[in-house]
Amino acid sequence: MSSENKIQLVRGMKDILPEDMGFFLTIEEAIRYRCIQSGFKNIDTPVIEYQELFERGIGGDVDTVSKEMYRFQVGKNNLALRPEMTVGICRSYIEHGMASLPQPIRLYSIGPCFRHDRPQKGRYRQFHQANFEIMGSRDASIDAQIIYMAYKILTDLELEDRFVLNINTIGTPECRKQYEEELKDYFLPKKRNLSFDSQGKIESNPLRILDSKDEDDIILSKMAPKLKDYISEDSKDYFNLLLSYLDELEINYKVNDNLVRGLDYYHDTVFEFLDEDCLSVCGGGRYDLVKILNNQEVPSMGMAFGMERLIMHLKDSGFLPKKRDKIDVYVACIGDTAKGKAMKILSELHDCGVHAFGAIGQSSMRSQLRNASKFSAKWTLIIGEVEVRENAIILRDMDEGRQERVKLDDVIEKILSLIDKKDLDKWSLY
Ligand code: HAM
Repeated sequence: MSSENKIQLVRGMKDILPEDMGFFLTIEEAIRYRCIQSGFKNIDTPVIEYQELFERGIGGDVDTVSKEMYRFQVGKNNLALRPEMTVGICRSYIEHGMASLPQPIRLYSIGPCFRHDRPQKGRYRQFHQANFEIMGSRDASIDAQIIYMAYKILTDLELEDRFVLNINTIGTPECRKQYEEELKDYFLPKKRNLSFDSQGKIESNPLRILDSKDEDDIILSKMAPKLKDYISEDSKDYFNLLLSYLDELEINYKVNDNLVRGLDYYHDTVFEFLDEDCLSVCGGGRYDLVKILNNQEVPSMGMAFGMERLIMHLKDSGFLPKKRDKIDVYVACIGDTAKGKAMKILSELHDCGVHAFGAIGQSSMRSQLRNASKFSAKWTLIIGEVEVRENAIILRDMDEGRQERVKLDDVIEKILSLIDKKDLDKWSLY
């Protein structure tokens, strides 16, 4: 709790209230639809992993790990809340020997991630990612398929016009090594002019100086050697092939030489869908984390959407999610015997797919009817001692204010005749 002992949310965290859940579910459905269609399997890995996994996988000098990761110790274990999902999925791939499955393997995951960054618009400390990986193939068509998937999901949500696909190649790890040496040589004589943070990165990870928000660092970075001059011919060919596939799929893109992404594990393709404020709704690229973690080559390509950022854009576009939790029938009752019957009716209505609730409390019929109106029920079923005795029930149309008496045995059929079949909410195990 806060120092004033107020009951309040931890800074940077966000409740997903019932009114927002409709947006969440809409996006989840759009994602699952596209995933199932193209052979993605659902995987869920824990939000807690060993700190070392992220340090080795993402890079210990990357802000996401060095500054923003939630770290804690339990017993002798140094643990962390996952700042992203890819590393955990690759850990799981290694541990479960997924290399023996038909490759490439397509996995998707939806869940929370944690980064202790400064909260601001579209940036939370707990947020949700929809994450996609295709593991076990180096082929530009796979890169194109991942990007196409992101584009299709945005199109399904009617948001595609709000984002520009920025894409770049950062070359192979070897190109990068050579480039990093050049950057070191460039920054070392200028060390005193760099921010304190960047000074510490010259030796360990000079590429990250290019992401710095410090004004002096930005000026010096502008004059630094350019990564594109160190990209191998093979990587350039790969990138051009990918662009030709995107052309074929009629996906517009902007080649952005400055796009390097904030995580260390990428090579070759990197991309982000950016909105007009340059906020990324989806980012990803090519990597081989299994090689980094376990020295086993599993060329991979992946991406992740930020769910809250998608919701922000859906709301801004004026979209309203389907009302799934509307109530069709409220069951009001007076007396314990009537309440027993009311619960039986509710149970039968539920089994038929009708949204219904009630049979609560001891309040007067008037106040129960008021309650039914507050929940916007279309019909109220009323049962008291007289109705129990006469084996009947009163059906009230809440909009019209009309009511009729129905035999208790006929009430379910009567309700079903009033509700459109497509509004019935049926579920089955198979
Ligand atoms: P990322 O770009 O760090 O990539 O995050 C992916 C998306 O998560 C971002 O585009 C953004 O929409 C959302 N996001 C990131 N941080 C926040 C935050 N603090 N608050 C709200 N939303 C946020 C990755 O995480 C990679 N693992 C993606 C990937 C998968 N690459 C390969 N496979």
